This record gives sequence, C-alpha cells and structure tokens, in this order.
Amino acid sequence: MTVKHTEVQEYYGKELESTEDLKTTACCTITPPPKHIREILSQVHDEVLDKYYGCGLTIPNQVEGLKVLDLGSGSGRDCFIASKLVGQTGEVVGVDMTEEQLNVANKHIDYHTQKFGFKRANVRFLKGNIEKLDELDLEEGSFDLIISNCVINLAENKQKVLNDAFRLLKPGGEMYFSDVYSDRRIGADLQKDPVLWGECLSGALYWNDFLNFSKKAGFTDPRVVESHPIGVENEEIEEKVGDIKFFSVTYRLFKLDGLESDCEDYGQSVRYKGTIKGKSSSFDLDDHHNFPTGKMITVCGNTYKMLNETRFASHFEFFGTWDTHYGIFEGCGGNMPFKEEQGDGSLACC
Ligand SMILES: C[S@@+](CC[C@H](N)C(=O)[O-])C[C@H]1O[C@@H](n2cnc3c(N)ncnc32)[C@H](O)[C@@H]1O
Repeated sequence: MTVKHTEVQEYYGKELESTEDLKTTACCTITPPPKHIREILSQVHDEVLDKYYGCGLTIPNQVEGLKVLDLGSGSGRDCFIASKLVGQTGEVVGVDMTEEQLNVANKHIDYHTQKFGFKRANVRFLKGNIEKLDELDLEEGSFDLIISNCVINLAENKQKVLNDAFRLLKPGGEMYFSDVYSDRRIGADLQKDPVLWGECLSGALYWNDFLNFSKKAGFTDPRVVESHPIGVENEEIEEKVGDIKFFSVTYRLFKLDGLESDCEDYGQSVRYKGTIKGKSSSFDLDDHHNFPTGKMITVCGNTYKMLNETRFASHFEFFGTWDTHYGIFEGCGGNMPFKEEQGDGSLACC
C-alpha cells in the first residue's frame, strides 16, 4: 500500500459517511438509470445506497448468466444490481481495498439474496488492491464482464489495472465502466492534494492517455457509450483546478482477437433482431452505433466483430465476408490521408 492508497482508504472509510459528504459532483451519477435498473434499485438496501459514490451506469445489456467482476465495488450497489440481473446461474465478485466499504457490502449479502428470491448468494466481496489483481485468487480468462464505477481514476498505476482486466476477461468478454477523464494531463501539485484525488478529480486520466493505455493493454478499439461534462460546483476546488475540464465517461472495451486500430470497410452489414432484453425497438452499441430492429446497417470490421464474436451474436443477422477490403470505413469518421484530386503541375514519373 502506498501513501495514496492509505489516503483513499481514509477518504472512503472515514471521511465520507454518505453521498451528502462529497465536496464536489464528480462522484455523482448524472444520467437517471433506465427503468429496469430503477426497479432493482428499489430493492437495494438503504445503507448500500447511502454510500454509493459512482459516476455512471456500469451495467450493460444482456448480462443474464454472466460472471462479473467489479473493480472498486465500494458498498456494493453495482454488484447487487448485477447480482439480480445475472440471476442464479451467474456470479458477481466485487473487489475493494477499504474495510469500511467492504463491511457494508458483506453485511447485506443475505438481505439481497432473500430479496431477489435466490436459493444461494451469487455475489461475494474480496479485500484487495485493483492494482494488484494478480495477487488475488482470480482465474485468468474467467470473467465475461468487468465493471467499475468511478475507481480507476483513484489508482496510481492505471496501465496495470487495464492489463490485469484484459488478462482476467474471457475472449469475447468486455470491460464496461464509468470514470472521470480530463481534457489535459493534470500537474503533480494537484495530484498531491488528497481531497482533489479523493474526489476523483486530480487522478483523472487525460482522455488520450487513457486511449493509449487501453490499446497497450490489448483493448484495441475503445468505444464511448456515454459522456457528460462534470461541473465541479465548489468554488475553492474550482479555483485550484483552473481551466481543466472534467468529463464523466462510460467506455466499453472488448477483448477480441483481430480488432484493427482503425475502422476498415469489408462491405459487411448486420440486422438487429430486437431480441436483447428491454431493447425491442433498437440497440445502442455505443454513442454512434444505433441498430433499429429489422434495419440493415452497414458496419466496419471492428463493429462486426463486436457483435459477431460476443454475447450479442445470437441477436443479429450477419451479412458479408472478410474477402474484399474496400478501404477505410468512412461511416466512423475515417478519412484517407491523401488528396484525391490531381494537382495541375507536370507529371513526374519515378
Ligand atoms: C468513488 S468510490 C466508488 C465505489 C463504488 N464503485 C460505487 O460506485 O459506489 C471508490 C472506491 O474505490 C475503492 N478503491 C480506490 N482505489 C482502489 C484500489 N487501488 N484498489 C481497490 N479499491 C480501491 C475505494 O475504497 C472506494 O470504495
């Protein structure tokens, strides 16, 4: 444990009693949860809800039967939601390093098992550091889904967290998580401030560093699901952070062989069947891929793989092959870096 870890444990274990004690709105969720999650939230214990410090919605669609890992599970809110959604055949493991948070989560396992009508608990909590997941007894390649809500910004070695997450996922699995990002790299002086770090601000990753870390870990094509600017709403802290802009972002990162660094066009299309639970009229893969039921949509090779080689495969019809490459996929904003028009200079042959 480093000094930073001890400070974070103090902050979440002792300094904060409930959401009311937060000094900024960084660890607050802006988007209201969808109806099916609101229904589950009405069954979650109040003490768990009082100590919720997440910044987004970290539960994707179609999770029944999955094995889920929550990095920095806190008082367990997202784990209990996931527990209900994965059902008795699924399994949820939460990891957190703060004793007081784990105590609340553990105290309410039986309550939720009963509330959800399960014969036995499908959720458990482990004490551990998410920067040392390799020291926990977690089997490599064994998780379908890794979630995390407003935690990775608090880690000092973010690359290690992503590397381990990639290692723990099954092929075709995904990491789906919400966190705080900044529009620039944050200076060391701000990073030393325990309140700014604890409030999930000064540990925030500059978004482009995050993309590079993810790609280095093996998550070749990170997709934004949702993003919102964060208003700090505390004059003293605003003064300290100056012009830095913060965002709450939900990313989905698939572990898939053969994803390419750019969106490439193989002339492929997909048609959504409308069968994903709660998504009968359309399904959103990310913030720029909406699939209305029954409509043929042209996709790049990476999107094709994200649908064809994951738990979404049976919910789509797939058209096309990998035989012919038609260039960069312009639908994802890709552009050829060369001028297409001939200049009016004389022809020079090589
Ligand atoms: C902002 S809270 C979010 C908690 C929970 N995800 C939620 O949505 O309520 C951050 C949590 O991450 C935990 N945490 C921070 N750094 C950690 C680390 N390196 N390893 C394990 N847990 C960590 C803290 O103990 C705290 O419970």
